[in-house]
Amino acid sequence: MNKLETKLGKLTLLNPVTVASGTFSLDYQDFFNLNSLGAIVTKTITRFPKEGNPPPRMIETRSGLLNSIGLQNPGVEAFMTSVMPQYEHISIPIIVSFSGSTIDEFCETLSLLEKCSEISGYEVNVSCPNVEKEGIAFGTDAKTISVLVSRLSALTDKELIIKLTPNVTDIVEIALAAKESGADSLALINTLLGMSIDWRTGKSHIKKGIAGFSGPAIKPIALQNVYRVASKVDIPILAMGGVCDWKDALEFFYAGASVVAVGTYNFADPLATVNIIEKLGFFFTENDMKLIDIIGKVTF
Ligand SMILES: Cc1cc2nc3c(=O)[nH]c(=O)nc-3n(C[C@H](O)[C@H](O)[C@H](O)COP(=O)(O)O)c2cc1C
Repeated sequence: MNKLETKLGKLTLLNPVTVASGTFSLDYQDFFNLNSLGAIVTKTITRFPKEGNPPPRMIETRSGLLNSIGLQNPGVEAFMTSVMPQYEHISIPIIVSFSGSTIDEFCETLSLLEKCSEISGYEVNVSCPNVEKEGIAFGTDAKTISVLVSRLSALTDKELIIKLTPNVTDIVEIALAAKESGADSLALINTLLGMSIDWRTGKSHIKKGIAGFSGPAIKPIALQNVYRVASKVDIPILAMGGVCDWKDALEFFYAGASVVAVGTYNFADPLATVNIIEKLGFFFTENDMKLIDIIGKVTF
């Protein structure tokens, strides 16, 4: 077993570094060999195409990035016919992120994706509004998560990862509901809620007002969420939230993550993931340790 090998539920990854949904595309192959990642997580798709939110929908603040992309995507059918074939040369696990506005819509999307044998697993984005429940995000209600995950897990044998939102009172309650209903693993955290206003004009920098906040500023918040979930819920965690370098990755492993994803920092340094993999390799070799020796081993 190589020192960086790790498991994410049913998947074995040769190294523990992937990319966070929505922050990565095949354009990164201009910078490095994508097969050197542990896995690839694609941008969230939905049952039908979405244009996304009106601009401006991204602003860099002093402490992190705000985005309100609004799940712009071509829809599941176009994704399968036009996007998936571009991943033909990819030999590492491909994890497809999807979302929906009703439970039936999530299920229809998953049923269609199941026809695609190149997909190794799914990351279910539950940070979106549930139109049947006054637009409250799916991921904020344990009962809704139970129904959603039970329905989805009955439809697939592939890795089923539920991506949690941190914008809840008790993330552990939601994580437990996901696990008990059939989730194989959990991804956390999605963006926090944020806002930015031009002090000169009083106008919101983001057209829709409230946006998702990400980047290095959210790392301590992500770490404590990972630590709390890992302490109480016995399934693997794919962690993200401000990962920029190999030391950040190590913190997440000690907190209980089995895999980390680089998100916002990909925009600053497209080589961040491969640099992290290389430096983690040096770290574990120099210290004669394996990744699995430190997962969840934070001390106080
Ligand atoms: C521009 C942008 C687009 C994103 N799009 C998605 C998305 O489509 N689906 C999703 O689950 N998360 C999406 N996210 C959230 C990231 O996957 C990640 O959970 C979050 O940004 C925290 O990680 P980071 O601080 O490393 O960026 C997006 C984040 C950014 C910055």
